[in-house]
Amino acid sequence: MDSQLLIFGLSLIAFVAVATTVFLLARQSTRERKRVTSILTSFDVPEEEMDTESEIKEIRSHQYRFYRISGFKWIISVFFALLLVLLTTFEFWVDYFPEPMPGKAYPINLKISYPFSFKKIHYSPQDSPLLARNKIVTIDDLELVKAYRASRRLPALYALAGYYVVYQLLILILVFWFGQFSSESREDENKNLVFVFLVILLVLLVAKFASLTGIISVYYVPVAMLAMLVNILIYNKIVPSLVIFTTIFVAILSDFDSQLMLVLFSGGIVTLFWLQNVKKRSQVFSTGLAVGITNLVIYLAIVPMTGERLLSAIVQQDAVGAFLNGPLSSILTLLLIPVFEKVFGHVSPFRLMELTDLDSALLRELYLKAPGSYHHSLAVANLAEIAANEIGANALLLRVGAYYHDIGKMLRPTYFVENINPQGDNPHDKISPYASSKILKSHIILGVELGRKFKLPRKILDFIPQHHGTTVMDYFYEKAKNNPETAGISGSYFAYPGPRPRSREATILMVVDSVEAASRVLTDHSEETVRKAIEKIINHKLTQSQLDESPLTLSELRRITTVLTKALATATHKRIDYPAQTGIHAQFGQPAQPAAAAAGELIGADTDKLVIPDAVRNGEAVPPVAADTIAPAPKPPDGKKGKREDAPPTAPAANGQAAAPSLPANGKKAKREEPAPAPAGNGHSNGHPAEPRPDSGGPGQSRT
Ligand SMILES: [Fe+2]
Ligand SMILES: [Fe+2]
Repeated sequence: MDSQLLIFGLSLIAFVAVATTVFLLARQSTRERKRVTSILTSFDVPEEEMDTESEIKEIRSHQYRFYRISGFKWIISVFFALLLVLLTTFEFWVDYFPEPMPGKAYPINLKISYPFSFKKIHYSPQDSPLLARNKIVTIDDLELVKAYRASRRLPALYALAGYYVVYQLLILILVFWFGQFSSESREDENKNLVFVFLVILLVLLVAKFASLTGIISVYYVPVAMLAMLVNILIYNKIVPSLVIFTTIFVAILSDFDSQLMLVLFSGGIVTLFWLQNVKKRSQVFSTGLAVGITNLVIYLAIVPMTGERLLSAIVQQDAVGAFLNGPLSSILTLLLIPVFEKVFGHVSPFRLMELTDLDSALLRELYLKAPGSYHHSLAVANLAEIAANEIGANALLLRVGAYYHDIGKMLRPTYFVENINPQGDNPHDKISPYASSKILKSHIILGVELGRKFKLPRKILDFIPQHHGTTVMDYFYEKAKNNPETAGISGSYFAYPGPRPRSREATILMVVDSVEAASRVLTDHSEETVRKAIEKIINHKLTQSQLDESPLTLSELRRITTVLTKALATATHKRIDYPAQTGIHAQFGQPAQPAAAAAGELIGADTDKLVIPDAVRNGEAVPPVAADTIAPAPKPPDGKKGKREDAPPTAPAANGQAAAPSLPANGKKAKREEPAPAPAGNGHSNGHPAEPRPDSGGPGQSRT
């Protein structure tokens, strides 16, 4: 016990040092707050829109709430520490071992945790088990076990207190770190913490079982499984600290075996390198194999230091356990993922990948019933993914959330602007503003119901109500106020039901949803105009308190603004129409652009992909070319560049698409420009690369 006390003392000093570091890190937040003040000021929020100073303070304060440990976290960490004390002292409380039968082999290693004397035998827990596994039980052994039972005592109070202090400190530091790296809502953060504690407990149960019974080697303890599960279902930043703490817990349960600690630690850390951007289950298996090989290499590397022979070490159960630990951890991980998805509402990247299938029944239906909303969702997904990658949010989760955020619109599609035919009647003209707002609101409730029916994960369903938060539909509210009959009506009747975005991903979706809609209205797509529009949208969300529950920081909002500006300003370039008689404009009765102007448009285009006809270069009139096909100037047989007049006329198809691209004289296929974006229901281009239609069979997951 003396050596244990020494270890506790040293551990305490180490933990106090770590806790001080964490405290100092937390203090840095004060400096960060000052930085936020300057960022907020630079956001140029009009003073009259910011109601009070307290509102601004509230916006800032919630950004740093994760530095604090909430009451729930205190309770759960105390409970977990007590549970670990009970687990550690298990054999003091419970008669767990089977009754020895004389003449038969004993099934487990009977280990006890305190020195024990019987006749002339002085047993020390460090030496060997009281009764070894597979030993044929003798009468002496029977007496020994009987005497142990009779003399068994409960653990001393100071020993229990020692264990508790160590565990509690370790757990509190873990909770601190967890908060440092977490960017989720408080509710999800608490859930994640319970999930992590549960997985650690599973690992420690295996460790205790292995160390108490000797039925399996302690090298089977699946610390790598914990690392894989947390990496796949939560995030990887917390994995190193979790692996360190869990290895320490395992060490406490298994007599501080340093070789075991090093092996388990290395195996856990290796998962970090092999599980980056995990999307396929096969990656989990290859990670398991990598963990197994690493474990074995580390195990064998330590063998010479222990004075053991390498060859005899390889065939031992411990070496086999160290290797099999990896593959078994990956199998356990894959088996447990669906269980945790169900219990904690996590969504694994494997499920998300399935949901990105644009050919799924739900998205196909959205395309058929509300094509404008479908294309809007795809455009939002592309933009949101860029924003998520910029700030290190979960881009895949956000892409899927964006695909499904407006599915509720498919039930009354014609009431939503992107599906309204500009030449047709506007159904809102025939109903009251309040009725209009109710129909618009219904896409939230119906969307969630529809999503539930199609068994969308909870994390995806959360995007549906949170992308509008509790925003007031200003257009219909103003319309109602202008009507003398409803002049005094409250704005709350025109507000979406909420809740407001509670995760970084939901906040990005809220912002990008508005930004994408605004980009369709903008006529000038210069960087300055786009940036101002985005800043205005974000300021509006801030002043309407829509971002109050969001963990997104203001500096992240600024980075999102910059990256969205670039994406929109470069993506919304205009396309040229090659003029004269059969160009798109000509076909639809609009004047064709002059050839010189068309050539001018090409200056900013990707000239690698385009072969600019000489005549267009020179500003001459040119023969017609279909809208989406820019044919290269055909080469004459002598290899010199031919004149445009020599090109064979291209017959446009009835739908305005080229029947066949022009072929140059050498028989090579003409270079094609990227296909034009599929037009939205309202006739506007969505300004993004073309997304394949669900019925086209392609997955359409071109990532930007
Ligand atoms: Fe919506
Ligand atoms: Fe939307």
